[in-house]
Amino acid sequence: MSEYDAAAADLRAKLPMEPQLNDLVRYATLAPNSHNTQPWKFRLGSNQVDILPDLARNCPVVDPDDHHVFVTLGCAAENLLIAGRARGQPGQATINLDGKNTSINVGLGQGAVSDTELLDAIPMRQSTRSDYDGQALSANDLRLLEQAATMPGVETLFITDRARLDGVLDYVIEGNSVQCDDPAFVQELKDWIRFNPDAALETNDGLFTACSGNPTSPNWLGKLMFDQFFSKDSESEKYKGHMNSSAGVVIFVADREDEEGWINVGRSFQRFALQATALSVRHAHLNMPIEVADVRPEFASWLGIPGKRPDLVIRFGKAPALPMSLRRQVSEVLT
Ligand SMILES: Cc1cc2nc3c(=O)[nH]c(=O)nc-3n(C[C@H](O)[C@H](O)[C@H](O)COP(=O)(O)O)c2cc1C
Repeated sequence: MSEYDAAAADLRAKLPMEPQLNDLVRYATLAPNSHNTQPWKFRLGSNQVDILPDLARNCPVVDPDDHHVFVTLGCAAENLLIAGRARGQPGQATINLDGKNTSINVGLGQGAVSDTELLDAIPMRQSTRSDYDGQALSANDLRLLEQAATMPGVETLFITDRARLDGVLDYVIEGNSVQCDDPAFVQELKDWIRFNPDAALETNDGLFTACSGNPTSPNWLGKLMFDQFFSKDSESEKYKGHMNSSAGVVIFVADREDEEGWINVGRSFQRFALQATALSVRHAHLNMPIEVADVRPEFASWLGIPGKRPDLVIRFGKAPALPMSLRRQVSEVLT
């Protein structure tokens, strides 16, 4: 793991006091992104960066309409904006809405320093896919999380009541069952798993098993074990443990169902995730009810938002850290 750990740490080196656009892009790429496919490209201009979708890196089975790609771009844009703001280069994101070619222009200016707490959280944030400690969060922490996620065009539904969380779990299990019964879903997931540090370092992308608290193994053995042990029942049991040990769940809902709405959700989610990290609160996705098209409308009605599309389901709570994930180098994502 030593080479892996060094690479993960290098990616997260502190931002220089006067960062170049390359440095800001490095921080943007530390954003969460679906299956760690990193479906983004960055075009540098003079004091501006365009963030473009890289649709060759989408996940057509779990994400058939590229919803997650554009949420991911929103997360990256928010990181870039925070990094700029915290280094005295506050900027603005402008969405150029054009279907699958939708991009985000981040223009940077000069101004007051802000958001330094969130900047410090960027290299510390991770998706923590483990059981949490089962404790509730303080009212103050919950208030700060709600505040951080506030973004025009996005509604957040926080659920901490245990009976309501059980209700969300029912939809998670229903969605998980549909996904696990779909060989194409299972194959797509397996294709993005990296079973050992060398495999992860070879591509600098994908889901490294250790980042999910799973053992590492040679590729041949990992694939064999996956085929042997990945099942609907074992996954459901795992998610029950995850939900029952979490302090709560937040559901993000955009007020428009298009690339612009999804980008806004990514920005809101990223601010939530960084504020959580700053408070030593972990988070992870439980997106099954929003990924399975047949479950989603039923879930929306249950949430009290019939006809709307819930965009993300995120659990939160306290837990130790797991290993950090890798990213491709900045030079590989520039266009
Ligand atoms: C739009 C989106 C959807 C995601 N969906 C899931 C998911 O369903 N399950 C999961 O465990 N992680 C999910 N993730 C988290 C990514 O797998 C994670 O961000 C990526 O592997 C990088 O790891 P990191 O967040 O620890 O840096 C999602 C992230 C994004 C942005």
